[in-house]
Amino acid sequence: MNTESRNKERILIVDDEPANLKLLDKMLRGQGYEDLVLVNDSRDVIKQYQTARPDLILLDINMPHLDGYQVMDQLKALQDPLLPPIVILTAQNSKEYLLRALAAGARDFIGKPFDRNELLMRVRNLLDAQLAHRMMHDQKNVLEEMVQVRTEELRRTRLQVVQRLGMAAEYRDEETGSHILRMSHISALLARTIGWSEADCELLLNASPMHDIGKIGIPDAILLKPGKFEPDEWEIMKTHASIGGKLLDGDDSDLMRMAQQIALTHHEKWDGSGYPNGLAGEAIPQAGRIAALADVFDALTSVRPYKKAWTVEAAVEMIKDNSGKHFDPKLVDAFLQQLPDILQIRIRFDEAGHSD
Ligand SMILES: [Fe+2]
Ligand SMILES: [Fe+2]
Repeated sequence: MNTESRNKERILIVDDEPANLKLLDKMLRGQGYEDLVLVNDSRDVIKQYQTARPDLILLDINMPHLDGYQVMDQLKALQDPLLPPIVILTAQNSKEYLLRALAAGARDFIGKPFDRNELLMRVRNLLDAQLAHRMMHDQKNVLEEMVQVRTEELRRTRLQVVQRLGMAAEYRDEETGSHILRMSHISALLARTIGWSEADCELLLNASPMHDIGKIGIPDAILLKPGKFEPDEWEIMKTHASIGGKLLDGDDSDLMRMAQQIALTHHEKWDGSGYPNGLAGEAIPQAGRIAALADVFDALTSVRPYKKAWTVEAAVEMIKDNSGKHFDPKLVDAFLQQLPDILQIRIRFDEAGHSD
């Protein structure tokens, strides 16, 4: 080791004997260690440790007030993942004594009286180990941060794709952007009311706008036809649910899985009379049941090219009548309970030309 070189590492030295402190200070300074924090009273260690953030601690065992073991207990209690190695300074070398110090958290010993070479070698080794440990710790943090940033990017991209898909479906349909907004917000509100977590409500808010994405696959002549459908046209129209289900299938993100479920099952009915699979009751995914109720309520109370808007009262009556038939009774209860807030959503996402 070149004695000319400077060592940036900070070493905390604790000894009640001023002569020992002085000696260690001299030996270490002679080796280029300039950043030394000397502590004479063991009761000051924690405070000094927290301000100095040393890379190594040299610790006497036999001290008044707090002995070395107690100091180590206090340091351990801080639960600092970067707690530096602790080297015991001791005149004792009985095996039992040294084992006790090791068990208490010491990493190494330096016998008194101090041997200069031994001291410097142990200090250098432990400082190197601590620097490597710190570097790995920092690198882990950097990596974790990078992963977080990338994950957030992915999440945002996925949300964008999903929202744009929803918009694409709107272009093909009489349904408007405000319908999508109202329907998805009502869905999230119903989900929250029946006890879904905030995170799942957020998923539903983002997934439900794609419920009619399958209409992309319906010919214009049918999709845009004013007036009533012929039975065969109606059959084709109904395929939008399975088309949407296929379109969104195969991605295992929570968002896409929920969107897929909703596209596929938002026309299923509680009593099994819906489409495309005639599922009944709880065999219908809850997200699909929620979207069904929110979608129907908003569609009924909106103007469409082929119909006038129903009044809220008439739509509410229809939903009540269909509890246990078209709709999950538990959701109808949630709907009735939240009616004032649902009407607020209607006001919030109102559109010109559409009224009750
Ligand atoms: Fe639909
Ligand atoms: Fe809809």
